[in-house]
Amino acid sequence: MPKLIDILNGPNLNLLGEREPGIYGAGTLADVEAAARDLCEAAGADLRMRQSNHEGEIIEMIHGARADSAGIVINPGAYTHTSIAILDALNAFKGPVVEVHVSAVHKREPFRHHSFVSHRADAVIAGCGIQGYELAVRHVLSRL
Ligand code: DQA
Repeated sequence: MPKLIDILNGPNLNLLGEREPGIYGAGTLADVEAAARDLCEAAGADLRMRQSNHEGEIIEMIHGARADSAGIVINPGAYTHTSIAILDALNAFKGPVVEVHVSAVHKREPFRHHSFVSHRADAVIAGCGIQGYELAVRHVLSRL
């Protein structure tokens, strides 16, 4: 069975491409998915990409990933900076976890400088725009 990679996106990332384009760029989640799918297909892996504006749903996606996923790429959006619950869920997942931020969070407001998710992430990519997801998927694939 091909290995499955999850890309999980948190709140407001459904608006990627429309929301604050000066910060997040013009690329959409559909663009992210198309590029990631090509990479996974070339590597013989499957991709499951989802987005939710609800913390509990993201936690349940991570719980579900425990059963069938080889690795998680996650952009938790603003929950990055607030959610110990998402950190705890990721701590219960055994495969590689890569945290992605489209924007250069460390150049932005101080409240974006701390990430609870980084306590678990095996790698963190920030400030590469939507290309960060491709880099993250490549990294996860390299670790499978
Ligand atoms: C973000 C950065 C977060 O601070 C912000 O709340 C987001 C998007 C990013 O991808 O740059 O929603 O995770």
